Amino acid sequence: MSTTNPQSDTQPDEGPRRSRWSRRPAEGTPAAAARARRRSKQRRRIGNVAALMAGLVLTGALYSTFAPAQAADEGSESTAEAAGRELYERSCISCHGENLEGVPNRGPSLIGVGEASVYFQVHTGRMPLVRQGSQAPDKPAIFSDEEIDQLMAYVQANGGGPVLPSGDLRDGDLAAGGELFRLNCAQCHNFVGQGGALSSGKYAPSLEDSNDLEIYSAMLSGPENMPVFGDNQLTPEEKRAIINYIQTITDMPDPGGAGIGRIGPVSEGLVIWTVGISALLFGIFWMGSKA
Ligand code: HEC
Ligand code: HEC
Repeated sequence: MSTTNPQSDTQPDEGPRRSRWSRRPAEGTPAAAARARRRSKQRRRIGNVAALMAGLVLTGALYSTFAPAQAADEGSESTAEAAGRELYERSCISCHGENLEGVPNRGPSLIGVGEASVYFQVHTGRMPLVRQGSQAPDKPAIFSDEEIDQLMAYVQANGGGPVLPSGDLRDGDLAAGGELFRLNCAQCHNFVGQGGALSSGKYAPSLEDSNDLEIYSAMLSGPENMPVFGDNQLTPEEKRAIINYIQTITDMPDPGGAGIGRIGPVSEGLVIWTVGISALLFGIFWMGSKA
């Protein structure tokens, strides 16, 4: 019996041993009071932790009941990414690579270009590129807005980079926008945004049909020969001012008939000079031949 249960052997002298080894002091001594205080402090700490946990659980429960839309949104975000991956693998992977790293002689890396560049390239129909030329032309977009969102989500999640702005993009000072446009954009896009030729078969396109987001994302991504206008070059307010200016001048009707390049009295005077003077001369000679 003593071998199967050694504890019974030690039982008799456990009492004295406990009193000798344990640090529990006798009741009523100052040491006991200190111990009790320590004990209650410990208990209070455990109580605090329990209250914290309960609070967290309660917050979580409240959050999930009061913000179901948010939760659903998070769920669909990953599905947008997955849908984007599918589109990417179908239409872009051959030129931009399995992991956005690019393919030599086919397409550049998309790492770090961000959703802004994807929006610009796909919404203006430049991508997916059909045929390599000196410059990807803009053509009607072949993807729906939803598909573009999915492609953006995929590239943004896997490559990172500049994101699209939100809010009213024309919310900027018109006069300042005109000044900034003449300083930063007019040398390529012409004073009224009608575009112009660049070297080696490249050209700066007309901005007449560009929507606000296309203009903003063009500045953020700097396609082809166009420089990147990051937020250090042009603040978001300055970008909005430029967009306001571009959309104002390209929406403006030409009340006098043909715009003639809209560069003002010089072109109008030239037209009057050549057309008007030739008509006058024609009249003079016609009258002379009659006499
Ligand atoms: C046939 C090859 C090809 C295909 C297919 C293609 N691309 Fe491109 N992509 C290019 C080339 C070449 C460039 C660079 C030339 C240019 O910017 O005009 C480019 C540039 C881009 C850029 C700009 C990168 C930057 O530096 O800002 C983006 C974004 C982009 N492609 C996205 C896409 C997406 C999204 C798809 C699929 C829907 C796609 N591309 C399909 C060849 C291709
Ligand atoms: C050095 C010349 C250059 C300057 C400066 C420049 N761009 Fe561009 N821009 C280009 C070229 C080239 C393209 C065409 C790129 C392509 O097709 O991939 C372009 C394209 C664009 C487009 C797209 C138009 C379309 O067809 O969809 C917009 C919008 C645009 N630029 C706005 C601006 C704004 C705003 C500024 C000034 C802040 C500016 N650009 C400054 C050369 C320039």
